[in-house]
Amino acid sequence: MEYHLSEEEKFMEKIGYPELDRHRKAHDMFRRAIYDLAQHIEKGDPKAFREALSYAWGWLCNHIAKTDKKYAIYAKEKGLI
Ligand SMILES: [Fe+2]
Repeated sequence: MEYHLSEEEKFMEKIGYPELDRHRKAHDMFRRAIYDLAQHIEKGDPKAFREALSYAWGWLCNHIAKTDKKYAIYAKEKGLI
């Protein structure tokens, strides 16, 4: 997760994506939620594991379909990809 989010942020920096700060904040919110749940998972809490899977699945589907798509459109419009 961290690798993917970081690489995506580096790419947005590289292309000069104007919505980078807002996008990074969305990533940071996701990071905090998952790292918080991970602490409970590491203690053996199965409810936290199910919650993390459910949250991550929903967040990723929504994020990829909406938020990530915006920087892809920006990059294509600028002829960067
Ligand atoms: Fe993203």
